[in-house]
Amino acid sequence: MGQKYHAKLVNASEIIKKAHQNKYAVGHFNINNLEWTKALLEAAQEKKTPIILGASKGAIKYMGGYNLVVVIVNSLLDSLNITVPVALHLDHGQSVESCKIAIDAGFSSVMYDGSHHPFAENLKNTKEVVEYAKPNDVSVEAEIGTIGGEEDGCSVGTGEIGDPKEAAEMVETGIDFIAVGIGNIHGPYPTGWPGLNFQALEDIQDAAKIGIVLHGGSGIPQEQVKKAISLGVSKINVNTELQIAFVAAIRKYIEEGKDKPENGKGFDPRKLLKPGYEAIKATFDELISWFGCKGKG
Ligand code: 13P
Repeated sequence: MGQKYHAKLVNASEIIKKAHQNKYAVGHFNINNLEWTKALLEAAQEKKTPIILGASKGAIKYMGGYNLVVVIVNSLLDSLNITVPVALHLDHGQSVESCKIAIDAGFSSVMYDGSHHPFAENLKNTKEVVEYAKPNDVSVEAEIGTIGGEEDGCSVGTGEIGDPKEAAEMVETGIDFIAVGIGNIHGPYPTGWPGLNFQALEDIQDAAKIGIVLHGGSGIPQEQVKKAISLGVSKINVNTELQIAFVAAIRKYIEEGKDKPENGKGFDPRKLLKPGYEAIKATFDELISWFGCKGKG
């Protein structure tokens, strides 16, 4: 079973509960490769910040499979002497089976995203995931409503606002935190985006009482992020913003000709990726000061 493999990883339940009680949010940052994972772990350790590393189906496939992702993260926890709480979380698990595979591989947290199913089926499948996760000391996230846009090819939603009654029923399954559609969108926000629906967030929080997860955390204005946290958001998922920062920094490096053989050894991939790696750390630093989780590890 997964439990023995994630001895150092933490179940995300306690870190989210603590954030919820103390009105801050823990960052869920998606990982895409080794450099990404290392940058995030180092940044979290430097800032004494709890962190949730999210791995989507697409990223897991790209990185070499569930087991390899677990091995990479666990090995880095050792070699970098990471002491802050770190959870490894399956992002948008699309089936009960994929959640079970992640748990068996050693993920310490999973999301079952049944938002593409009718609610009754979403509820039934979430229950099955919770029953499998709990004996393995793995936390579970479920989703009600839908998140607009597309997340790494595995979650495509129309942005349906979550129903508080469904949230309350979902919480009865024993989940640890709940993702909700409140006008949030995966990927960059379009011009003219009306913003988060705070009334819906308040109503869902009243009904659910547990930590709310805000997906599509890239590009939401700071005042809206802060207000969402004050209304119960305690986990914020970010992927696109780090990707944009990573690429912009590497583009600058190339545009400055630093990769050209006539200018030295800048073509070495370790040198090429370094500005991207640094941009991830800087973006992480800025976002965690918005989330209020800096120093909470
Ligand atoms: P963004 O890519 O919009 O930051 O969303 C990430 C996310 O919600 C992962 O689940």
